[in-house]
Amino acid sequence: MLILKTLKRIVSALALKLQYRASQLVLNNRYLKYQYLRLAAILGGLGLQPPLASSDLAKRWQRQGTEGSADRPETYIKEDSSLVELFKEVLPYLNKESKILELGCNVGRSLNYLHKLGFKNLTGIEIGPKAVEMSQTVFPEMAGDSRLIVGSAPLEIRKIPTAEYDLVFCHSVLVNIHPKYNYIFREIARVSKKMVLILENEGSLFAYPRDFKKLFERAGLKLVMSKLFSEGCREFPFPYEEKDVYINNTIQLFAKDKSH
Ligand SMILES: C[S@@+](CC[C@H](N)C(=O)[O-])C[C@H]1O[C@@H](n2cnc3c(N)ncnc32)[C@H](O)[C@@H]1O
Repeated sequence: MLILKTLKRIVSALALKLQYRASQLVLNNRYLKYQYLRLAAILGGLGLQPPLASSDLAKRWQRQGTEGSADRPETYIKEDSSLVELFKEVLPYLNKESKILELGCNVGRSLNYLHKLGFKNLTGIEIGPKAVEMSQTVFPEMAGDSRLIVGSAPLEIRKIPTAEYDLVFCHSVLVNIHPKYNYIFREIARVSKKMVLILENEGSLFAYPRDFKKLFERAGLKLVMSKLFSEGCREFPFPYEEKDVYINNTIQLFAKDKSH
């Protein structure tokens, strides 16, 4: 028993070392990075974990970081230009009574942005309890008026009635959700009455990059707008046509039908 346990420990330490070496290689070689992202998108689409991805991202987010780490809720308080860019496409199609759901809301900066614009029918789902607790002090008015649920998005979304929300959105969240939960794309389509809006990094090496457009289209949605967000980002289209590696940080708007 002891020998088996020791062997298991040695094998997992070696596997980690190998994974680290491979990730350094991929990071520093544009061609390998390109090929890796291609493979990751295929595996992710099939519900499988890409080889360089960490298997415990959900646990990491649930803990929400130690002192100084970028995973802490403090990182997500500041309102930045991503919020303006993300919402300006959908605002004309919403009214102040619209019901809006955010997956992975963290401390709630996006919900607060919408709340300041007059939206009061807001719900957030967030896996990290610390972030939700912090939203009560950082954004007390928004938190007081909204429904903030602590839990994992793929599990919580199943409890929501069909066509409950006019808009469902995520900002840098789907890439953190393991491909074994790919049913979440169908669930997002199910609970949305009109629109789904995402800002996701499809070139994220250590998370779970996927072809989000393809997955939402498979779930019955139609892409109506797509634009790159981050400065310095260049398009790295799916299917990859260019022999270069660019990092996508793409805003994509999907509609349930053409009427939005
Ligand atoms: C990169 S942060 C973005 C936070 C927020 N969307 C924003 O832009 O301010 C990713 C967020 O997704 C949350 N998250 C990751 N996996 C999740 C899951 N399975 N269910 C719910 N939230 C999750 C994390 O806790 C974190 O708050």
